[in-house]
Amino acid sequence: MTHTGSGSTYDPETGAVPRRVGTRSSAARERRVTPRRDRRVALVTGASSGIGAATARRFAAGGWQLVVSGRDRRALEETAAGTSAVVLPADLAAPDGPRLLAESALRATGGRIDALVAGAGIGWAGPFVTMPPTAIDQVLNVDLTATLRLVREVLPAMVEAGRGRVVLVGSVAGCVGVRNEAVYSAAKSGVAAFAEALRQELRGTGVGVTLVTPGPVDTAFFDRRGTPYQRSRPRPTSPGRVAGAVWDAVRLGRDDVYVPGWLTLPGRVRGIAPSLYRRLLHRFG
Ligand SMILES: NC(=O)c1ccc[n+]([C@@H]2O[C@H](COP(=O)([O-])OP(=O)(O)OC[C@H]3O[C@@H](n4cnc5c(N)ncnc54)[C@H](OP(=O)(O)O)[C@@H]3O)[C@@H](O)[C@H]2O)c1
Repeated sequence: MTHTGSGSTYDPETGAVPRRVGTRSSAARERRVTPRRDRRVALVTGASSGIGAATARRFAAGGWQLVVSGRDRRALEETAAGTSAVVLPADLAAPDGPRLLAESALRATGGRIDALVAGAGIGWAGPFVTMPPTAIDQVLNVDLTATLRLVREVLPAMVEAGRGRVVLVGSVAGCVGVRNEAVYSAAKSGVAAFAEALRQELRGTGVGVTLVTPGPVDTAFFDRRGTPYQRSRPRPTSPGRVAGAVWDAVRLGRDDVYVPGWLTLPGRVRGIAPSLYRRLLHRFG
């Protein structure tokens, strides 16, 4: 791990360190670290928890300058601890959230972002007919709209630099559709289609697009959505394993990554033989 200082905190709206009454001393809160501009820079959303936090730590260990974002400042500071990561709390569900985060991140790094890992996401589980309309909006907003808007804000700097990689975190639910996760499946399917289309548009620009498709991962995701993971298979994998896959994808320029790798199978079977796929699903769940 590269240890160059502590995490610094910025207000996403102004770029300034906010003054808040809290338990930490104001000196600690105002401690700012100049980001290292001689290193490659990754902006990681969802970095306060789970896959995003593990990914941020993996990139920091690999010598990258990190900009970490989420809503929970304290958790972000934990992710950033012992690194030179810039901490940028932001609510991506807010109308201006993605734009303000992108502006603050580009300001903090002198306009350089080599990798955007869009890891923020939420779930909702239950029969679609019982899903509150507000929950539909929230899932689509955080998982799809905000992700696309953040990419839209960050991408021009990458294209201008002639290099970079956008990493989108999809889900196996977006490949095959999972019952009782209809809106989440739809949002992640949208992310996957977006990745494919954007990759084609960016051909020749030096900017790549990776779609990471995890199966279940052992994070707070299930607690937060209020419904535990109940299937016996696939077994949840670790966020560190997904982080390693993201790291390899950025290093090696991979476009599609499944974690675990065998998860390509359900989507392939469904693509080739949808009726058979549904029969198998009915039988084996
Ligand atoms: N866990 C799984 O089984 C699984 C499987 C496939 C795909 N995924 C995807 O992987 C990604 C990361 O999930 P995870 O498992 O790491 O879940 P997690 O531990 O619950 O982390 C979710 C992250 O998203 C952030 N987030 C949520 N709403 C936000 C908002 N409005 N504004 C800004 N940030 C927000 C959270 O930050 P704050 O709490 O600080 O707001 C948190 O850092 C998600 O896109 C998820 O859909 C997860």
